[in-house]
Amino acid sequence: MATATEAAGTAYHDPATGTFLLTTSLTAYAVRVTGDGVCQLYWGPRLSPRQAAGLPLPDWHGGEGIGDELPAEGTERFGPAALHVAFSDGTEAVEWRDAGHTIDGGHLTLRLADRHYPLELELHYRVRPDSDVIERWTVLCHSGADDPVSIVRADTAAWSLPQRQDYRLSYVVGAWAAEFHLQRVRAPQGELTLTSRRGSTRHEKNPWIMVDPGDATEDHGEVWSTALAWGGTWRITAWRTLTNRLDVLTGAGHDGIRRALRPGECWTTPVAAGLYAADGFGGTSRRWHDYVRTVVLPRPDEVRPVLYNSWEGTWFDVDEASLRQTATLAAELGVELFVVDDGWFGKRINEHAALGDWWPNPDRFPEGLAPLIAHVHDLGMRFGIWVEPEMVNPDSELYRAHPDWALHMNHRRRTELRSQLVLNFARPDVAAWAHGWLDRLVTDHAIDFLKWDMNRAFTEAGWPGNDDPHRLYLDHTTAVYDLMDRLRADHPGLRIETCASGGGRVDLGILRRTDQAWASDNTDPVDRIAIQHGYGQVYPAVTMGAWASESPNPINQRCTPLRFRFHVAMAGALGVSGNLREWSVAERSEAAELIAAYQKVRHIVQHGHLYRRTPASPDRTTVVQYVSADGAETVVLAWRATARFGELAGPLRLAGLAVDADYRDAETGTVHAGAALTHHGLDLGLPPGEYASTLRHLRRG
Ligand code: DGJ
Repeated sequence: MATATEAAGTAYHDPATGTFLLTTSLTAYAVRVTGDGVCQLYWGPRLSPRQAAGLPLPDWHGGEGIGDELPAEGTERFGPAALHVAFSDGTEAVEWRDAGHTIDGGHLTLRLADRHYPLELELHYRVRPDSDVIERWTVLCHSGADDPVSIVRADTAAWSLPQRQDYRLSYVVGAWAAEFHLQRVRAPQGELTLTSRRGSTRHEKNPWIMVDPGDATEDHGEVWSTALAWGGTWRITAWRTLTNRLDVLTGAGHDGIRRALRPGECWTTPVAAGLYAADGFGGTSRRWHDYVRTVVLPRPDEVRPVLYNSWEGTWFDVDEASLRQTATLAAELGVELFVVDDGWFGKRINEHAALGDWWPNPDRFPEGLAPLIAHVHDLGMRFGIWVEPEMVNPDSELYRAHPDWALHMNHRRRTELRSQLVLNFARPDVAAWAHGWLDRLVTDHAIDFLKWDMNRAFTEAGWPGNDDPHRLYLDHTTAVYDLMDRLRADHPGLRIETCASGGGRVDLGILRRTDQAWASDNTDPVDRIAIQHGYGQVYPAVTMGAWASESPNPINQRCTPLRFRFHVAMAGALGVSGNLREWSVAERSEAAELIAAYQKVRHIVQHGHLYRRTPASPDRTTVVQYVSADGAETVVLAWRATARFGELAGPLRLAGLAVDADYRDAETGTVHAGAALTHHGLDLGLPPGEYASTLRHLRRG
């Protein structure tokens, strides 16, 4: 075991063996610099530097490169390449020499240089004292003056799993309105690739993966996981050999893109974060949530306001008069942020026109947006607005003036999806235009919140006239990040929601510059149970926008009670959408009560620790529990959509409580012993029948 003197969040070096050890609060990661690269030695529970120095090198020669921190094309590493470069004379292999290292607290940099060609590589690692997450990123530099080096693949990292009898993979798959569906499958012998080729993160997969030996449960067992901080295209490949070793490669870009590294240029990959946890999928999720809250999010300390969004109320049909009425009703419900969705600008009355024409529609807002915003602010709410800056409709003034700004290829059609094309944000003039109008919009209108949407994938992703067109896949994403960073820096009060047809752009990269995510266009509470379950495997509730909306639900026509809709949405950052002007007085009064109940517990949901007390199921009782950071409060949310006889009503054992303390039910005043709640359980008191739900709030003392 590590000794007490070895601090968490520190990098150590043993010069005699070339071993480097990174320590986190409970884990350790060790690598060794060899004659021709860097090899991973260990990833698991804490080790001391002396113990790490004594670890043997894995058999990576002839072993296909398992264990190599960045296996490169062209050598005896026969597995998938994490690095593939082509020099101008046709050489497509690297030969590294050790070029030194630096250690700065928990930040380790290992330097390698090619023995012949002008290519340098830095492998960066960062650990922190209060987290078990290890961040890695890579910098590739062209150190010469002549021809560019072509980069075919430049992953951030390869992660090697220690040998176990078996391996299982967990990841999410999805589609529009069906995001984040959790899969658990035995790792195949061979390669399993999760990827996006669509220009951004997208719904079909999300850039994280978990690996366990096949025996981890919610509360027990070893789980290794990695997540990529990148919202462009990406690839994660899990690669298992016949000899039962498993490596995971993570990086930006999809297979088939190739770009130039010019003389003097460096490319810094996005961060890939890795985590080892010994306490099951629940412990893994809680550690990811802590990491997102403490390291990733720009304003983790804030509670997310209850928002109203106009989308499911009136769709494209927004105007000042009706929004004024809706805002008044929303304020009465207790809403704190009023968001006008699509339909407010240019000639936007449906999806076919006006993206790019970012001025208020004069028919709908004759005096501009200012009177509505003043009304919303007077009601004590903040004001938010929907934008989709990366897109253009061919039927727009912008496109008529700048058809070359859209992604396109010579002699090829421009495929329209949702009647729109993608603007090439890699072009500095396009990025400057977008900054100009967004900055004016926010400045001139005192806008507090942007819902930043991105509704289609890239097609014909060309850039005629540019000699390195694939660069746009990376530079587009970087330009979006730069723009968000600049807006936030210039407007410190501005908050941003990431959205891409629902949850199509949720990842650790976009969450660095946004405050919450629209998790899905599917607001049906029953479907949402599975979506939220998958979302919460890595991303915390504070980021998960969740609306209580209309019944029948516009996506699947299911009718559910208002209370059930609210209780499911309360598992995240609660919002409301729907035509409030058509809600009855009774519905609005019940909604107001439910919002008030959420406001009393949201600090626990948003900033506490999540314990999934049952599997998520559309036809069984699903229970999630949140425990406040100080352990003094807990919230239990339970949902049961079907009227199954004999289905769980309790007692259900709670987690994360002090067994020697008492907990008082905030509503009934009943006192429960922490030991009884922990070992025996809480009676959920779910009413009989379909769509039963409850919220229980217990306070210590
Ligand atoms: C897709 C989003 O996911 C919806 O919430 C809504 O904002 C529409 N776009 C508007 O076009």
